[in-house]
Amino acid sequence: MKKKLVISTGAGMSAESGISTFRNAGGLWEKYPVMEVCSADGFNRNPALVHEFYNARRRDLLKAQPNAGHLGLVDLEKDYDVYVITQNVDDLHERAGSSKVLHLHGELMKVRSVTHPERVYKLSPEAIETTPDSRDSHGDPIRPHIVFFQEAVPNMEPAAQLASEADIFVVIGTSLNVYPAASLLHYVRRGVPIYYIDPNPAPVPPDVTVLKMGASEGVERLAEILRKG
Ligand code: APR
Repeated sequence: MKKKLVISTGAGMSAESGISTFRNAGGLWEKYPVMEVCSADGFNRNPALVHEFYNARRRDLLKAQPNAGHLGLVDLEKDYDVYVITQNVDDLHERAGSSKVLHLHGELMKVRSVTHPERVYKLSPEAIETTPDSRDSHGDPIRPHIVFFQEAVPNMEPAAQLASEADIFVVIGTSLNVYPAASLLHYVRRGVPIYYIDPNPAPVPPDVTVLKMGASEGVERLAEILRKG
């Protein structure tokens, strides 16, 4: 029976793939006012700006490749039952080959009906641009399949359940600024080892093992630590 290795990732996981983080210098929220492009109010106020913001991020994503950190997490599936919970909306974990990925904040390569949110559509790389005039096959307007600020995080419950079942919990590349995602490590059972990989780590409880380095180096170091048992 393989141990359950639950990994929670943020934007830093994709930094080495060339995808901009949010709160580092030069990050997305320096260039775009977050509440204009990533909030429910912002989408209602200026849908064209929001559609274009996500079109630009999809264009960047198509040019990006999974990095050694993503691939290292796939390697760990040989020895562990690995679950990835990610705040990221990119599909780099999936493209690297991770078999169990739970997105907390939505998925960039998906859109959904505004009027029937259960109708979710995967965009093909050839047709990634959407506008306020885009319509689905039912004639309904569509929106990015992204959890905007001010909106609920429906996958938080299954994510918290996974964290509570972890035999080992790992946090990679997140500033732990945004809730409820940031609270995941508090669902981990007492005594379960927690590792935090981040070159500029946010404050965490003393029993968390901090690996102050980037994702690629950190995942390699983590695999060494886990191999030693
Ligand atoms: N490897 C690992 N971590 C890195 C790297 C790297 N190469 N480079 C930067 N980081 C770390 C930073 O030190 C920081 O702690 O990644 C983290 C990025 O933090 P944020 O930009 O705040 O990203 P994140 O924590 O994922 O943001 C959470 O906020 O804007 C919303 O919905 C958006 O999902 C996002 C959420």
